[in-house]
Amino acid sequence: MGIPPLCMGEMDIERNVEFNLNCLNRKNRFYYQEVCLIEKAGVKVGGICMKKIGVGYASVSDLEKKYVLEALENERLSQGKFVSKFEKKFSYMHGQIYGVMCNSGTSALHLSLLALKEYYGWDENTEILVPAITFIATSNAVLHAGMCPVFVDVDSKSYNMDSNEIEKHISNRTKCIIPVHCFGMPCEMDKIVEIAERYHLTILEDCAEAHFAKINGRTIGSFSEISAFSTYVAHTLTTGVGGIMCTSNLEIVEILRSLVAHGRACTCERCIASDANQVCRKRMETDIDRRFMFIRLGYSCRVGELEGALGLAQLERLDEIMNARHNNAEYLIRGLEAVEDYLQLPRHPEYIEHTYMMFPLVLTEDSNVERDEFARYLEGNNIETRPMLPLLNQPVYKEIFGNIEDKYPVAKYINSHGVYIGCHHGLTRQELDYQIKIILGFFKSIR
Ligand SMILES: Cc1ncc(COP(=O)(O)O)c(C=O)c1O
Repeated sequence: MGIPPLCMGEMDIERNVEFNLNCLNRKNRFYYQEVCLIEKAGVKVGGICMKKIGVGYASVSDLEKKYVLEALENERLSQGKFVSKFEKKFSYMHGQIYGVMCNSGTSALHLSLLALKEYYGWDENTEILVPAITFIATSNAVLHAGMCPVFVDVDSKSYNMDSNEIEKHISNRTKCIIPVHCFGMPCEMDKIVEIAERYHLTILEDCAEAHFAKINGRTIGSFSEISAFSTYVAHTLTTGVGGIMCTSNLEIVEILRSLVAHGRACTCERCIASDANQVCRKRMETDIDRRFMFIRLGYSCRVGELEGALGLAQLERLDEIMNARHNNAEYLIRGLEAVEDYLQLPRHPEYIEHTYMMFPLVLTEDSNVERDEFARYLEGNNIETRPMLPLLNQPVYKEIFGNIEDKYPVAKYINSHGVYIGCHHGLTRQELDYQIKIILGFFKSIR
């Protein structure tokens, strides 16, 4: 099999797909890698898609540019009106009254746990339930906050914490559940809330991957004492780096505002704004200037106006972003239906609004294929893949918790058989078609 004719500029998808599939055989799936080494003007030709189809995408429209420019023209880089507006709007849209922006989703989880620990008086023996599949930041935050994560196996269809598995992990030290809405798919919050109420447990939702997802019309993030979000690039709404904590508890939001800014005593907008022109009236009423008085061991996790401006612009473009993701995911599902016996697609009940931060794919037992083979094939065809959030087999967790993976068979199966690909709003119809063809071709070759 020789090198196909060179294709310049825009890729001729049909021809490349056909070529790749011809190169594919059971014994040597990666043959084409040897024949596609020719590069022209940075474009790989000779049988391979010239541009990697990534799992994530951050789109910056004229609106983001306008707001960022406005922040710069205001000469206001630290927290100001953009941050405040974003906090209010975002938390309101997630069914909570207050929002506190911070520098990452990890900080949002960490500070939320510290705030709950202080508010409820939890100690270092406190156990917090987390799913056996999530990004490592969720359980790391529990450890960083000086408490103990206890893992709960996940559901084989939704990949979220299995509500039927929760009760067997509850002890008299359990104080909190952290449901993580993975990949844009909401957890079974009705069941989780019912269990939490019965055992008097607090809920902290990790909403990093599911901004605006809904259950029966109710937005995730509204089922808990605090909900924590990441706005890192590739998340549905992005500010570059960043996170936000949402709550309706006034005492808790005061603790969060303090923790995010070194443990500040005064959390009024004026002190937080750190603006010489806006002086808090209580400032000089105390021994130490109240704006620089610290009452708890805090952190420096604030963001500035540029992140606020980006966030606000993205909120205003929400429908455009969400509709595109939704349409892309539906298109991929329809395109891949034919191989559903081998590949579990992200289907969900009617009452769920999935936001498809990613497009998870799990190889079924009938496929007789494991993740590595499938992922290498996709990567070889310039489709980026990521593992579906392996956690318990991470070297650092094996060191801390030992070999506990076998106690979580569903999570273990997903780790060895699942990958996610992109269905983000930056994908073109051509790229979606390409992904479908490559995946269908894979299964055609192994049948
Ligand atoms: C479920 C989950 N929680 C927390 C985080 C941490 O967010 P960040 O990367 O902004 O710290 C992520 C990041 O992707 C995540 O997926």
